[in-house]
Amino acid sequence: MLTNPAARYRSFAPVQISERAWPDRQLTSPPVWLSTDLRDGNQALAQPMSIAQKQRLFKLLVDIGFKEIEVGFPSASQTEFDFVRQLIEQDLIPDDVTIQVLTQSRESLIRRTFEAVKGAKQAIVHIYNATAPHFRRIVFNKTQAETVELATAAAQLIKDLADAQPETDWRFQYSPEVFTSTELAFAKEICDAVVEIWQPPAGLAVADRKAIINLPASVEVSLPNVFADQVEWMHRHLKWRDRITLSVHNHNDRGTATAAAELGQLAGADRVEGCLFGNGERTGNVDLVTLAMNFYTQGIHPGLDFSEMDAIADVVKDCTQLPIHPRHPYVGELVHTAFSGSHQDAIRKGFAVQDPNGIWEVPYLPMDPADIGRSYEAVVRVNSQSGKGGMAFLLERDYGLALPRGLQIEFGQAVQQAMDAHSSQDQATEMSSAKLWQLFRQTYGIETTVKQQYLRHRLEPMEEEAARTGAESQHIQVWLQDSGETYSLEGTGNGPIAAFIDALALPIHVIAFEERSLTRGEGAEAIAYVQLQETTSGQIQYGVGIHHNIVTASLLAVLSAIHRLNQNGELTLEIPLLNGDSVTGQTAIAT
Ligand code: KIV
Ligand code: ZN
Repeated sequence: MLTNPAARYRSFAPVQISERAWPDRQLTSPPVWLSTDLRDGNQALAQPMSIAQKQRLFKLLVDIGFKEIEVGFPSASQTEFDFVRQLIEQDLIPDDVTIQVLTQSRESLIRRTFEAVKGAKQAIVHIYNATAPHFRRIVFNKTQAETVELATAAAQLIKDLADAQPETDWRFQYSPEVFTSTELAFAKEICDAVVEIWQPPAGLAVADRKAIINLPASVEVSLPNVFADQVEWMHRHLKWRDRITLSVHNHNDRGTATAAAELGQLAGADRVEGCLFGNGERTGNVDLVTLAMNFYTQGIHPGLDFSEMDAIADVVKDCTQLPIHPRHPYVGELVHTAFSGSHQDAIRKGFAVQDPNGIWEVPYLPMDPADIGRSYEAVVRVNSQSGKGGMAFLLERDYGLALPRGLQIEFGQAVQQAMDAHSSQDQATEMSSAKLWQLFRQTYGIETTVKQQYLRHRLEPMEEEAARTGAESQHIQVWLQDSGETYSLEGTGNGPIAAFIDALALPIHVIAFEERSLTRGEGAEAIAYVQLQETTSGQIQYGVGIHHNIVTASLLAVLSAIHRLNQNGELTLEIPLLNGDSVTGQTAIAT
């Protein structure tokens, strides 16, 4: 890069406009939309679309709800010409859709264009010529007067050709190409001259007006507020303003096409031309999906339907052979996903209180992904940035686990360790909810990793004891299996867990216990969480048990916690099992 870029680049001169109105306006209704995917978008493809691809994309655009579609540049190639003919001859254009065709302002090309659209119920013929000073000077070597002459001759010719084909309902469009770099007074002069020829009738609604003046940011050269000033200047000064539809056509060279098109609407534009997902020359045409969804998320229906966003994206990707960036607004595969722990935590809390019929207020999610046909699957994904919130969210959402806070912290460490182990082996560090669930079951010995397998239990109230002490008392007998042998233990306590702890006769006590239902309906399972402390070392661990019998679930949770204490500490808590005999109240600690 140059140390002094001013030696090569000029800053854009501000527009001389007083008391600009656009900063105080608000967008309250969508513009008339024109999709130029099949023309400007197609022109920019390394491999332009085949007729079959164009037909598929045309159908998609119709299904989305576009009423104006620029279908091609029929004088530019036989494919373009044939495609337009097929649309008309095969009657593929719905009555409420108007096709638009582009032509340069040259007689032979204009005549060929009229041949292409012959028989259309309605059509917009779009002419353009370059008006910017460096184009006039460098590319065309034309004066301003010669440039106006070119445009007006073309305007007259299309009017005459249209008059000769009255079976079609015609509209005409003129674009002063590279409007953004054209002197405003000259842009006005040439647009006025063209519209003067067309003599559009008064009193028509914006969408039906017979003349469209389209202001292309063929190259985006300034801040979007400057573009807005340019549009407002034209809006105020154009001679036939109330008889024309004022349109903008933004390219995205500075990455601000969306802002420019939005500010352009504030400044007076009635119509916007662009492409789905911002396809188009160089950095693309303005992205109509972003613009439309920006209306939607302000509570204004854009008149375009993106309820099946991913299916729409698939068709566009297929037809254009271009990928969509994973962070592309509204459609990218990551745009409704949070990896960061604090974001996930906020989202989880937001979902918990979100009224399904109320105003959308989930933190970090500017819209409900369901509105564009997405599930909540991708909203929270867990990687090494995520902390405990994300994994708790996934386990709750997909497996119905409401983990106690202490267990979230404890299991969060296990998740982190598993991810660190993966990343040190250069493996992907994302944890799907299925992987988390597997790690959870493994960590808490939910299947087979507990040394002593629970077999069955018998629980009996001790009525005499209860009568004597005035407190509830229960007796438990638990059968366990270890290395193929069956053992049983017996104990008493004021509940099944206390009785089992008594039977185990280990230096442990219960710090916390929670029990929840895991699934609903028939075959519902209970999940028990028990937090145990080993009294001599002070070590604490959670254990988890899952069973359809709630007592069994809590006994399993106790065994799981003992297994975890043994696994994570310096301890070996040996359950004192005596073959064939019942063991009551004995303790054995091997260190
Ligand atoms: O970007 C542009 O200037 C164009 C015109 C033909 C409207 O695509
Ligand atoms: Zn363009």
